[in-house]
Amino acid sequence: MNDYFTLARVIHVLAVVLWIGGVAMVTTVIIPAVLRMSKGEDPITMFEEIEGRFARQAKITTLLTGLTGFYMIYVLDAWDRYLQLRYWWIHAMTVVWILFTLVLYVLEPLILHKLFREYAKKTAEKTFRFVQKAHWILLFLSLVTIVGAVAGSHGWFFIK
Ligand code: HEM
Repeated sequence: MNDYFTLARVIHVLAVVLWIGGVAMVTTVIIPAVLRMSKGEDPITMFEEIEGRFARQAKITTLLTGLTGFYMIYVLDAWDRYLQLRYWWIHAMTVVWILFTLVLYVLEPLILHKLFREYAKKTAEKTFRFVQKAHWILLFLSLVTIVGAVAGSHGWFFIK
């Protein structure tokens, strides 16, 4: 394997750490903190400020993850993995990547941001609980993907 491949793997894992680490932070720390905030403070603005900053970081790291991921598949000439069940983690990586790319680049700026403001103003707690549930689902999917990807790329397949 050439040095560029190893470099791509290093950037891939770094980008994943920053990106999914951020999702974990939002899910397990920020949303619960916003839910516990006192009445006087404005949880909607605070949440938007923090999540907005993270969204910019997530856009860059998602892009880097995708570029380096497809580059590694190209170098390995491993496109046929998409046809094999034991490489379910390659499918999982691609699905997680597509989901986040859609949310960050298309749904959030076009629809979700407006919807969030509208609902959060009406029923803040219910909206934050819904946002939290969505984050938990994405985080769970991402963590299962990371487990499968690390095990699979080092030769430990769960399916023969
Ligand atoms: C378009 C999306 C993606 C593509 C094409 C892709 C592709 C790849 C490839 C080809 C490898 C190396 C496999 C091998 O050495 O046999 C890899 C490794 C890995 N990927 Fe992805 N990936 C993508 C997205 C993701 C996402 C979203 C995550 C995390 C949620 C992720 C986490 C990892 C991890 C943890 C490794 C293992 C690194 C190691 O242990 O050496 N990837 N990916």
